[in-house]
Amino acid sequence: MTQKTLEKTLFERIGGEEAVSAAVDIFYRKVLADETLAPFFETTDMVEQHKKQKAFLTFAFGGPNNYSGKDMREAHKGLVDRGMNETHFNSVAGHLQDTLSELNVPSQVAGEVMAIAGSTKSDVLNQ
Ligand code: HEM
Repeated sequence: MTQKTLEKTLFERIGGEEAVSAAVDIFYRKVLADETLAPFFETTDMVEQHKKQKAFLTFAFGGPNNYSGKDMREAHKGLVDRGMNETHFNSVAGHLQDTLSELNVPSQVAGEVMAIAGSTKSDVLNQ
């Protein structure tokens, strides 16, 4: 058996599909309650957005790949044109961090999640 098969993925360690689903629900509640972020989602179909974000994070955390949405650069290009910047990115990251602590995700696992989120920054900001 290789080392890889012995190690659990971040997706498994965080609690699988149910945990990701719960986190995405709480996360978007916080994002939409933030008046600096809500305007960007005014025309967004939030049911679809939940599904896409769950699929994206599942894949990003090493779970099954069912993500068929846009890549991060393409998905956020129009938003950058509308003024989305690093301050907004940091607020979104803060809501993700708060979501993980509310769900009592252990700090080491939360750290891994935040590192993955942070790694999308230059793409999300189209830098
Ligand atoms: C941790 C960084 C982020 C990740 C992983 C992420 C992930 C995603 C994903 C998976 C989608 C769906 C793409 C598609 O439509 O195919 C999306 C769309 C979207 N994201 Fe992000 N995002 C991030 C940061 C942000 C930030 C900082 C904002 C700022 C407001 C934002 C606002 C939006 C909006 C408004 C849409 C929907 C656009 C539409 O209505 O079509 N995202 N994002």
